[in-house]
Amino acid sequence: MIIETDKIVYEYPDGTKALENVNFHAEEGKIVALLGPNGAGKSTLFLHFNGILEPTSGTVKIDGEPVNYKKKDLMKVRQKVGIVFQNPDDQLFAPTVMEDVAFGPMNLGLSKEEVDLRVKESLEKVGMAGFEKKPPHHLSGGQKKRVAIAGILAMNPKIMVLDEPTSGLDPKGASHILQLLYQLNKEGMTIVISTHDVDLVPLYADSVYIISKGKIIKEGSPQEVFGDVETIRKADLRLPRIAHLMEILQKEDEVSFGKPYPLTIGEARRRILKEIEH
Ligand SMILES: Nc1ncnc2c1ncn2[C@@H]1O[C@H](COP(=O)(O)OP(=O)(O)OP(=O)(O)O)[C@@H](O)[C@H]1O
Ligand SMILES: [Mg+2]
Repeated sequence: MIIETDKIVYEYPDGTKALENVNFHAEEGKIVALLGPNGAGKSTLFLHFNGILEPTSGTVKIDGEPVNYKKKDLMKVRQKVGIVFQNPDDQLFAPTVMEDVAFGPMNLGLSKEEVDLRVKESLEKVGMAGFEKKPPHHLSGGQKKRVAIAGILAMNPKIMVLDEPTSGLDPKGASHILQLLYQLNKEGMTIVISTHDVDLVPLYADSVYIISKGKIIKEGSPQEVFGDVETIRKADLRLPRIAHLMEILQKEDEVSFGKPYPLTIGEARRRILKEIEH
């Protein structure tokens, strides 16, 4: 396991217990999705993955090593684990887009040529080439999000953790970013994302966790997790739209395409065509 938490508890200074005995694992080379309603603890959990937060109790292991909270050791963890924050305003700070994206790779001690190349490639990958000279605070919300992703991408981390990477993006932008993450994953990067976008999860995630009120209440493959409709609804989440349609057809109209419900359009299409042929 490249990320492994063992019973972590986190209490904010004001006494809010945001995480309770959380066991979370990400296998190397996989895409893992964390789903949960507002306030469930997703961002709090993610901030443990590169040592920004230290658990009140329990342990976090990255690449098999328990995280050590000394400054020098934290630097090493942060080279391995790149986190894209939920709010890009927490991340972007340099006077221009170019300087912002260059900041991480420059701190890795890379040559100017290498830094320039990485900035160029990263901005191209997120569809933000041409915005180099702009101050980040003059960008739209979705553009800021893309630049924040480029900044982490430019560091080429082994593990990329993205807190709601598609929120605020238009449909094309969201699917573009997910496509990019899928591609990076094929090249070997481990990807962990939190999201409310349940329709996209079955297309990309190898495994899914559901968090509710600071506790992990379900984990498994997308089929396993979305097959447990009761838990999904208890956590104030919903099924992917296509699975919801299948559920209604079965319950209300007695038209069954079998369980588990298809989770993607592709899968639903195959099942429907098969049914029609019969
Ligand atoms: N700095 C803080 N001080 C005190 N409590 C906090 C702080 N940050 C978050 N919390 C609380 O911790 C809990 C978990 O918050 P967190 O931001 O991790 O949720 P989340 O799942 O990321 O929600 P969202 O979907 O809205 O981003 C919430 O009850 C929140 O009010
Ligand atoms: Mg959050």
